[in-house]
Amino acid sequence: MKKTTPLIILDFGSQYSQLIARRVRELGVYCELYPHYISQATLSQLAPSGIILSGGPESVGQSFSPKVPDYVFELGVPVLGICYGMQAMAAQLGGQVASGGQKEFGLAKLVRASLPAEVAAQSLFALPVFENKEEIQVWMSHGDHVTQLPPGFYLLAQSEGACCAAMMDPQRRFYGVQFHPEVTHTPEGKAVLAYFVHTVCGCELNWQPTQIIPEIIQSIREQVNDEKVLMAFSGGVDSSVAATLLHQALGDKLHCIFIDTGLLRLNEVSQVKAMFEKDHRINLTMLDASERFLSELQEIDDPEQKRKTIGRVFIEIFEEEAQKHRDCHWLAQGTIYSDVIESAGASSSQASHVIKSHHNVGGLPADMNLKLIEPLRELFKDEVRQIGLALGLPHAWLYRHPFPGAGLGIRMMCPVTQAILEKLRLADAIFIEELQKQDLYYQVSQAFAVYLPVNSVGVVGDARQYAPVIALRAVKTDDFMTAHWAELPYSFLSKVAHRIVNEVPQVSRVVYDITGKPPATIEWE
Ligand code: XMP
Repeated sequence: MKKTTPLIILDFGSQYSQLIARRVRELGVYCELYPHYISQATLSQLAPSGIILSGGPESVGQSFSPKVPDYVFELGVPVLGICYGMQAMAAQLGGQVASGGQKEFGLAKLVRASLPAEVAAQSLFALPVFENKEEIQVWMSHGDHVTQLPPGFYLLAQSEGACCAAMMDPQRRFYGVQFHPEVTHTPEGKAVLAYFVHTVCGCELNWQPTQIIPEIIQSIREQVNDEKVLMAFSGGVDSSVAATLLHQALGDKLHCIFIDTGLLRLNEVSQVKAMFEKDHRINLTMLDASERFLSELQEIDDPEQKRKTIGRVFIEIFEEEAQKHRDCHWLAQGTIYSDVIESAGASSSQASHVIKSHHNVGGLPADMNLKLIEPLRELFKDEVRQIGLALGLPHAWLYRHPFPGAGLGIRMMCPVTQAILEKLRLADAIFIEELQKQDLYYQVSQAFAVYLPVNSVGVVGDARQYAPVIALRAVKTDDFMTAHWAELPYSFLSKVAHRIVNEVPQVSRVVYDITGKPPATIEWE
C-alpha cells in the first residue's frame, strides 16, 4: 500500500532534509529520501508521483556543486525545489543565480506578486490560508539567490530584500521556494507542502504508520522463517517497540538480552523487568553486569575513554551471552529511518544496510555471523511511538526523555564509583519526579542531573559541610543538534534544590545550567 508511487525527496545535504520527509509523512503521504544523484533506473522503478529537491550547503555556481540529474526534470512529474533545490532548478533550466550579496537568515516577510488569474489559481499561495494575506512570514537561510527566472517561470513572491522567494512553471508543474516550508518558523509551511503534495502531485492519503503493523509482523515472519532471533534490548523507545513487534510475530522464538550496566536511572531495571517480562511476556535475560562495568571504569576520567570502555564491555558481555544462544541465526536491532539516513548519509552513499551504533559506542559485532533484522528501518521516531502506543506500550514509556547509552557514566566529571552513582541517581530521580509532578516534564526535551566533583562549603544543622555539587540541566530542542536551556520557574528550581540538598547525602549545593547548544553540548561530557 505505502510503496505505490511514493513521493521522493532528493537530498542535497541540507540539515533539514529529514525534516522534509517527516513533514510529508505527517501529511499522510509515504515518502523516501534518496541521494541527489539517484540513478535513472532507480528513479524510473520508483515511479514517484512527485519530487522534492532539498536545500544544501553548496553554491550552485561552483564546478563541484551538486546538480539535479536531467532525467528528474524529464520525468513529467511535479518538482518542488527548496532553497538550494530551487537555485539548482533555476540555474539548470536557464535562469540566473547570484552568489553572496543578498544574504537572508531568519524570519522574513514575503510580498506576493500579482499574477494572471489562471496562473494565480495554481500558485503555492492559492490556498484559503493565504486569502487576503498580503505578507507571508517565512524562515530563510541562504546566501545565494535567483536573479533571473528560467523561461516559462512566473515569480510568485519576493522577500523584502527583493529576492525571488517563490517561482512556478505552471505548464511543467515545477515549483521553487527560497524559504524553508518544512520548519515550524514558517507558520504556513505545512500548507505549502500540503498543496504541493496533495493538489499538485495528487498524492492520496496512503500513510498511517499504525496501519502497517500487520504488514510488519507478516514480513518479520516471512524473513525469519521459523528461525530464532536474538536481540540486545536496551529498554529505550526503539528497542521496546521493535521487541514488542518481534514478539508479536515470533513469540518465544525471540530472545532478548538486557545488560544492566549499573549506569541506569533509579528503578529502571525493575521497570523493564515488570513491563516486558511480566506484562508483555517477552523472553528476556536480565544480566546484572554492574560490577564488571564498575571495575572496568575504575580511574577512567576521560569522557571518550569512558564511552569506549562502556561500549567494549557491553559488546564483550553480549558476545559471551550470545554463545549460549547458538541456535539463534538472527540478530534484531531497533534501527530507525533516521539512523539509516545518518549512518549511511543519504547524500554520500546509497543507504546501505548499516548496523545501528548501539549505545553510540561502536555497534554490535558484525562478525557474529548473524543475519540482521530491523523491523523499524523505514520509520521515524514519532511513527515508532505511534506504533508503540497501538501495541499497548505505555505513553509515559514511549515519550521519556532520551538517555545516553553510556548512561550516568558520562554525567559525572570524574571516574565512576558506586557511591557517586547512588547520589546522582537519587538527585536525578528527584528532578524528574518534580518535573512530572508540576507538569513540566513534557515541556522540556531532556532533563537530568550531573555530578560535579567540586567540594563547596555548606551548613548542615550547626555544622559546616564540605561536599560536592549537583548541576541540573534541562533543554528544549527539536532535533538535539541545537538546544535552548529551559527557562524553568525559579520556584520550581528552588524546590528541587531544596529537596536534593536535604534528601541526597553529602551534597552542599545545586546549580542550574543556563548554557545553550552551541556553544555547550547537552551532556556535560
Ligand atoms: P550532546 O551532548 O552531544 O547530546 O549535545 C545530544 C543528544 O545525544 C545524547 N548523547 C548520547 N547518546 N550515547 C548516546 O546514546 C552517547 O554517548 C551520547 N552522548 C550524547 C544526549 O543525551 C542528547 O540527547
